[in-house]
Amino acid sequence: MQILVTGGLGYIGSHTSVLLLEKGYDIVVVDDLSNSNIEVLDNIFEITSKKPAFEKIDLKDKKAVSKLFQDYTFDGIIHFAAHKSVNESVNYPEKYFSNNVGSLENIIDEIKLLENPINFIFSSSCTVYGQADSMPIDESFPLKEAESPYGQSKRQCEEVLKSLHDSGHSFKNITLRYFNPIGAHPSALIGELPLGIPENLVPYITQTAIGKRECLTVFGDDYETADGTCVRDYIHIMDLAEVHITCLEKLISSNDDSFFKVYNVGTGKGTSVLELIHIFENVNDIKLNYKIGERRKGDVVTAYADTSKIKEELNWSTKNSLKNALKSAWNWELNLNKDE
Ligand code: NAD
Ligand code: WQD
Repeated sequence: MQILVTGGLGYIGSHTSVLLLEKGYDIVVVDDLSNSNIEVLDNIFEITSKKPAFEKIDLKDKKAVSKLFQDYTFDGIIHFAAHKSVNESVNYPEKYFSNNVGSLENIIDEIKLLENPINFIFSSSCTVYGQADSMPIDESFPLKEAESPYGQSKRQCEEVLKSLHDSGHSFKNITLRYFNPIGAHPSALIGELPLGIPENLVPYITQTAIGKRECLTVFGDDYETADGTCVRDYIHIMDLAEVHITCLEKLISSNDDSFFKVYNVGTGKGTSVLELIHIFENVNDIKLNYKIGERRKGDVVTAYADTSKIKEELNWSTKNSLKNALKSAWNWELNLNKDE
């Protein structure tokens, strides 16, 4: 089985690529390195002793995408490639629509030419729910106008996939709405590599702990939550990687040529910013320098998943603890800085 992994050198893609190789799949990694590093390929090799085929392609380039589908025959596609900075998307919305939606459309144009229904997994985000009216969030909740062009682009991608399904074209699709992935591979050889100042909480915490950043600002402690800070559903990256294998197996084994499902991927448990900081401090025996600051514009107060659909239909649930995730995040940061 040959699987195309777009964005396969990125954070989620690299961890999933490792598991795919360990499971015996052949993979073709496509990445334009706009938010990743070619050395990730060597680290995937170091973990798995397997070197995937790699194509440096910008998926916005329609001709290059056509050539990719001429050069290889794929049994499945996992489409991770996208820009993901919420902040940047506010300043450069067009960059987000052209890359996130445009790249998907280029791939879909090729899918339409295939004889057999392709197995296709798409990376969506809990951001499509906006601030949901109640918790936990299940897949039937309405999609709200997203706060950012990034979120809006993910919503548009979901609509593009739905249109393809509705058009009656044979095509097997699972869309995964990830909650908040954190942590790193247990080897500490791959992990999250934020460019510049991290927007996300956990990389900001580890960079503060190692001394790259002076102080973490907690964005608001006056929300209507137990301790006043925002609540999220933090999922270990190894669990998130694993769910792609489960979904791929489901698609491959399904006889339904128009299989079409959306699943939340989270732990089902909400954790506040302060709780997360304290768990990080305890498991790693570190005192973190942090202060309470202003609310961040656009933040939802609380978001955690109802995970019953994926549990019931795919018999999948998370295995790793938040403690382990925060230990692995710290080991990754230590490994990144071992030569300094
Ligand atoms: P990432 O930036 O680490 O990985 C994305 C990869 O795609 C990068 O290696 C980048 O170089 C590549 N890429 C981007 N545009 C490309 C293009 N036009 N052609 C080829 N390669 C391109 O991001 P990630 O955290 O691994 O996220 C993967 C997917 O999951 C994205 O679609 C993202 O929107 C989604 N997602 C991420 C999170 C999160 O918190 N990390 C949460 C929900 C959803
Ligand atoms: C988590 C919590 C912050 C940094 C983002 C995207 C979303 C999805 C997941 C891709 C929040 C607080 C953060 C800091 C803080 N990505 N925080 N100080 O906001 O849930 O979502 O990632 O699809 O689209 O918006 O994640 O890690 O940025 O923040 O207090 O320096 O940590 O306010 O409550 P978020 P996050």
